[in-house]
Amino acid sequence: MKKMSQSNMKTITVIGSGLIGRSWAMVFASGGYSVKMYDNQPGQAAKAVTELGKQMTELEEGGMLRGQLSATQQLALLSTYDDLPLALQGAFFVQECVFEQLEVKQNIFQDVERLVGKDVILSSSTSCLVPSNVFSKVQDRSRCIVSHPVNPPYLVKLVELVPHPDTTVAVMDNTHTLMTRVGQVPVRLKREIDGFTVNRVQAAIIAESWRLVQDGIISVQDIDLVMSEGLGMRYAFIGPMETMHLNAPEGLGDYMRRYGEGIQRVLRSFGPVPDLCSEDARSIVDGMCELIPNDQQHLSARRERRDQLLMGLAKLKKDQ
Ligand SMILES: NC(=O)c1ccc[n+]([C@@H]2O[C@H](COP(=O)([O-])OP(=O)(O)OC[C@H]3O[C@@H](n4cnc5c(N)ncnc54)[C@H](O)[C@@H]3O)[C@@H](O)[C@H]2O)c1
Repeated sequence: MKKMSQSNMKTITVIGSGLIGRSWAMVFASGGYSVKMYDNQPGQAAKAVTELGKQMTELEEGGMLRGQLSATQQLALLSTYDDLPLALQGAFFVQECVFEQLEVKQNIFQDVERLVGKDVILSSSTSCLVPSNVFSKVQDRSRCIVSHPVNPPYLVKLVELVPHPDTTVAVMDNTHTLMTRVGQVPVRLKREIDGFTVNRVQAAIIAESWRLVQDGIISVQDIDLVMSEGLGMRYAFIGPMETMHLNAPEGLGDYMRRYGEGIQRVLRSFGPVPDLCSEDARSIVDGMCELIPNDQQHLSARRERRDQLLMGLAKLKKDQ
């Protein structure tokens, strides 16, 4: 596969027009790409584009529309299909966003491979399935990759690029280039691993937070403050490695000489994997529901608040 040139690489097909498919469509259109959206539920892709039109206008009014084009220009780049072969015509890159079910993804990629040329990159949005399973029905897996976004990808720009064992370096590089061009922030995994990196780090945070609440050390409310008012403040801008590097006079090596043993001592005191579904877990779930009742009215209001705050943070990062 050649290095990506821009001349004949203008069209991307997005398969599945749910939450993530819509976000990808907006991201790719913001980079000036024509996006062909396909969904196997008739009318679903067209409905998605109508909603995207409203969202793009709102983002434009709020000064948060990404890219150089106006909302009207970006909307004009979106087209919808209920027919897979038509949706794939002319695409150089396919981003799959269907249900998180192994067989559904395997079958889609088997169909797509029959319908596209050998240089077309086949990319999956899967959160939890490793590439060697997702692409097991594809003959030529050298052009297969997972591009795992973080929800919502329009505001949270990280994309994990996870190769199949057969994926070529050129496919990794070309996907990295595309993601960068559309304003995302891609990171490369050198090989596949269960949970990729985002969900592995997240699982470690969930596990220790859960243990600390279950062991009666801290309340549900306060462990959330540990992140939102403590660690999360800096992690929005610098990661754990740079944090340590800056927190000792002579950088990371110095930090480890001073604090490494202490960190290892604490790590050795971590308990086993907590049982997240046991009777004991009930009290943590109840504690959370006391703070935010789990009816639709309360949850929707908090989701709206979360999205507004995320938008403010994205704006701050954009202007930094
Ligand atoms: N929601 C998240 O937070 C998130 C984050 C990162 C990655 N992902 C991944 O993105 C993918 C999509 O998730 P989502 O939340 O958008 O799901 P969703 O349920 O909102 O949307 C899935 C869409 O795919 C369509 N679809 C299902 N089978 C199809 C098929 N065979 N052909 C064409 N279209 C089909 C459905 O009609 C639906 O519109 C999943 O793999 C998920 O793991 C989700």
